[in-house]
Amino acid sequence: MKIFDKIHDIQDEIRTQKAAGFRIGFVPTMGALHSGHLALVRQAALECDRVVVSIFVNPTQFNNPEDLKNYPRMPEADIGKLRSASVSDVFIPATHEIYPHGTGTAEGIPDAGSLATVMEGAFRPGHFQGVMQVVKRLFEIVKPDAAFFGEKDFQQLTIIRFMTRELGLPVVIASCPTIREPDGLAMSSRNLLLSEEQRKAAPGIYKALCFVRDNQGIFSVEEIKKRALAMIHSNVQLKAEYLEFAEEDTLHPVTDWDEASVIRCFTAVHAGKIRLIDNIRVIPANA
Ligand code: PAJ
Repeated sequence: MKIFDKIHDIQDEIRTQKAAGFRIGFVPTMGALHSGHLALVRQAALECDRVVVSIFVNPTQFNNPEDLKNYPRMPEADIGKLRSASVSDVFIPATHEIYPHGTGTAEGIPDAGSLATVMEGAFRPGHFQGVMQVVKRLFEIVKPDAAFFGEKDFQQLTIIRFMTRELGLPVVIASCPTIREPDGLAMSSRNLLLSEEQRKAAPGIYKALCFVRDNQGIFSVEEIKKRALAMIHSNVQLKAEYLEFAEEDTLHPVTDWDEASVIRCFTAVHAGKIRLIDNIRVIPANA
């Protein structure tokens, strides 16, 4: 496994691999790696000949400076985990390597319209602009044949697909299901920041999502939302920011079950200062 921090070095390496006919799979991450990230790596290794992982805590997607400051950083441990996985190359650039002219320019980033203004977009202004900015930049550097994203961040996945289509980028976007702790909590780098009490409470989020999925036939959208929020708030550690239903492809809000054939429930919940997100497919109820 080779580790690079300079763009021209990793580009030399990837050019050689491409010349040898290898298909390049790419897993962009912000580090503090867990089994969710490693599942993406495994999927990439199944579908591609070489797997490239990037670790870069992208400042432009953080709307909250405290969140950026506190985001867990543990490059040594991450590299250790990637060594035991099927990874060929790791790219760990400094901020000035990715943004040599500063972070301000969002040139060439398409307008994702309502995809980027609902749910996460509404509560984290500018977040998806920053995500598109860094993913476009990383795609231009790595030039992967395929890139792998988790359903855990379903809105992000939808927006990356949109951007790739809109800009005609020659990369296949593949998705992987959400990997969970045994108690149902979606794995997330931010879970490391939870106190013991918050960590105990956090599986309540997935419990509420499962309740929604398993009972949508019984209650209206409005009623099930009320009950799911009450389930989350039955633990004083948790405070929901939103719990919404949306059509899976367009992310259009759904207020009645027959408004769309594929519906997902999305939620963001605060456990103290830590903000956790999760989602589940409600109709058809198979994920
Ligand atoms: P990060 O949160 O590190 O996540 C990197 C990738 O891992 C994303 O595609 C995310 O959806 C996926 N992932 C995270 N937790 C997961 C889980 N429990 N199960 C399955 N997949 C999971 O998402 C980002 O970084 C950044 O926004 C990035 C795309 C790297 C751009 O900066």
